[in-house]
Amino acid sequence: MLEGKKIIIGITGSIAAYKSILLVRLLVKAGAEVRVIMTPAAKDFVSPLTLSTLSKNKVLIDLFDEDSWANHVMLGRWADVMVIAPLSCNTLAKIANGFCDNLLLAVYLSALCPIVLAPAMDEDMWKHPSTKINIDKVLSYGNKLIPVENGELASGLVGEGRMAEPEAIVQFLERGFFLPELLKGKKVLVTAGPTYEAIDPVRFVGNHSSGKMGIEIAKELFKRGAQVTLVLGPSNQIITEKQISVVRVTGAEEMYQACINVFPSSDMAIMSAAVADYTPVSVNEEKIKKKADSWTLEFKKTKDILQALGQQKKESQFLVGFALETNNEREYALSKLKGKNADMIVMNSLRDEGAGFGYDTNKITIFDRKGNEYAFGTKSKSAVAKDIVDTITNLLNA
Ligand code: CTP
Repeated sequence: MLEGKKIIIGITGSIAAYKSILLVRLLVKAGAEVRVIMTPAAKDFVSPLTLSTLSKNKVLIDLFDEDSWANHVMLGRWADVMVIAPLSCNTLAKIANGFCDNLLLAVYLSALCPIVLAPAMDEDMWKHPSTKINIDKVLSYGNKLIPVENGELASGLVGEGRMAEPEAIVQFLERGFFLPELLKGKKVLVTAGPTYEAIDPVRFVGNHSSGKMGIEIAKELFKRGAQVTLVLGPSNQIITEKQISVVRVTGAEEMYQACINVFPSSDMAIMSAAVADYTPVSVNEEKIKKKADSWTLEFKKTKDILQALGQQKKESQFLVGFALETNNEREYALSKLKGKNADMIVMNSLRDEGAGFGYDTNKITIFDRKGNEYAFGTKSKSAVAKDIVDTITNLLNA
């Protein structure tokens, strides 16, 4: 998303400037072209040498450099977006009032691109009425604000005023300015994790799914602008993206009901959960006591969620299933694609090293309805999620 994008990072004098080093690195890694402009005060906090090395460009600080004049107008016109991070209280006050006593302010005033501000200051300064007035002023000029976070501050106190984390700033830029249109605003249902089928109040039958693969898919879709509902079985993974709507469920029937509710208003559904195929015929109300030497439990089939969604799928909806196999992988995956009326099946084999439950990596092959087959190497689950979403968008574009 950030490949080839031109981004100015403005750094002001604040202890949070150390985070800008990582921000520049993340942006460059994502393929963006980055130019760093620092205020003279910022030099006391981070070294221009570090930033010029990471950004692969000379860091600009002064309006007049040796005998030449830094062309702030052209810089402002060059950028697709300008981010001031950290934005100190002092620079906030200056931009609120149109001051222009350094290069950063001159570029800010001449920029034609969107401006993003990530303030950083101690809580008392952040809460001061003048800061509030200045923030309202700069917002009224059309600037975008990345809200400060709560946490430990440079003073040692804990409170509001921390600059947003570099990853959050990158996400803000991707979602705010550089989203490809295709998934923007699309409603997507994702299932993830195992299901637990209760036997009695203390026991269940479950499986080893961690939920990681489905959660990575949900995050990737969110990054690309989709409105994601994640129906998640029992999983201890933490989902930091507050905008992903998480519906927590335990058993297969509960997961089925949640999906049946959400699917009619969804544009797409990706069923990556490891749903139990069978559930106990009855759940004992009390804990089953240890008595006989052997014991038999009777199971009944659960509802197949993917199949149910496949049956009610409308022409405009796109349905993706998973197939976790140990043998005859291709054959089983293709029969699930057809039998469950999915548009695409993501197959992984437990025979592949680093694939399946528990690992942080996965190895997949994707099959579509036109008979195409796409094989991928072993990758981190987040990279696999990108491959899956890329394949979906390619198919939707075709
Ligand atoms: N699935 C589902 N509901 C179920 C069982 C499976 O929605 N009750 C979905 C899974 O989320 C996955 C796909 O169906 O997207 C295939 O799941 P998998 O466990 O590989 O296959 P099954 O259909 O259960 O068949 P089998 O266990 O015989 O391989």
